[in-house]
Amino acid sequence: MINVGIIGGSGYTGGELIRILLQHPQAKIDFVYSTTRAGKKVTTAHPDLLGTTEMEFTGGINPAVDVVFLCLGHGNSSKFLQENKFSDRTKIIDLSTDFRLQEDAVFEGKEFVYGLPELKKSDIQKANHIANPGCFATTIELALLPLAQAGLLQHDIHINAITGSTGAGVRPSETTHFSWRNNNASWYKPFTHQHLEEIEEVLKSRHPHIGELYFLPHRGDFPRGILATAYTKFNGNEEDAIQLYRNFYKEAAFTHVAEAPLHLKQVVNTNNCHIHLHKHKNILLITSATDNLLKGASGQAVQNMNLMFGFPEDDGLRLKAGVF
Ligand SMILES: NC(=O)c1ccc[n+]([C@@H]2O[C@H](COP(=O)([O-])OP(=O)(O)OC[C@H]3O[C@@H](n4cnc5c(N)ncnc54)[C@H](OP(=O)(O)O)[C@@H]3O)[C@@H](O)[C@H]2O)c1
Repeated sequence: MINVGIIGGSGYTGGELIRILLQHPQAKIDFVYSTTRAGKKVTTAHPDLLGTTEMEFTGGINPAVDVVFLCLGHGNSSKFLQENKFSDRTKIIDLSTDFRLQEDAVFEGKEFVYGLPELKKSDIQKANHIANPGCFATTIELALLPLAQAGLLQHDIHINAITGSTGAGVRPSETTHFSWRNNNASWYKPFTHQHLEEIEEVLKSRHPHIGELYFLPHRGDFPRGILATAYTKFNGNEEDAIQLYRNFYKEAAFTHVAEAPLHLKQVVNTNNCHIHLHKHKNILLITSATDNLLKGASGQAVQNMNLMFGFPEDDGLRLKAGVF
């Protein structure tokens, strides 16, 4: 058994980590740190865990845990690591944007590996520090990586993606307020979303020349999940595209190519990314779907932990979709 610490335990990704790790066969939660709820039961923030755990949030850390997950907003992970020191052998998995880009990947002598297992499995297996990818970034990178790898992303790429309200974190805002969000839809940050840089860097790591990425994120009136569509010019036929994707993901534990068009609920509450391909005239339409809190965040973080410690990749992650 390994001992695990969680920072930011009352938030959405922290809560999902607690839920996964309480069921993990090889991990034991040592502490869940909270700035706002130290001394209170974990169930005060996550009442669904009533009857599963009696654990309390802590106001301090155990610096000797085997692995710590940082579930904090942008800028707070680096700040937290400056103010709190872990042992040299403690592995760190950060869910924020702080260490994802190449220019930020070394922090206080620690090298952070970008934690997308479909891209960097062997590096992750050797890594001590992981920058866990963003939720939109994961969904869109998995949709486009096989084309990038084959040098087939030369033309402009148009991407639309709709996300659930949990993508915005636990703190309520104008656009997550029920009265506004329910029965509503809207786009935001047109062509300028913060994950674009991360996506571009990852795709260019497979092939330096890619077309322009035009990304339009949308807010959906559901709590979790991301459905992304991307289209670009493609010379082959649909079967060529399907073969390309099947080959690229043949070893992937959680990314699968679907024959039928996707709907969001087939991945919600799972660590899967499902991908569908459709050819129309000279355009290839790629659809991908994930659960933003699982494959897009805490599930992928545990997948990375499993790889780092040599556990089966799907330990703790054999989850059941909601479906209906
Ligand atoms: N939500 C998603 O779908 C998603 C997907 C992928 C990646 N991410 C990334 O994962 C990170 C966490 O996201 P989230 O949605 O879980 O956010 P969240 O729901 O807002 O939770 C973050 C938690 O961090 C703690 N916190 C806030 N300020 C802090 C500080 N200065 N120092 C220490 N702790 C602090 C708070 O918990 P306490 O009150 O208990 O301290 C807060 O509840 C973010 O960087 C986000 O971009 C989120």
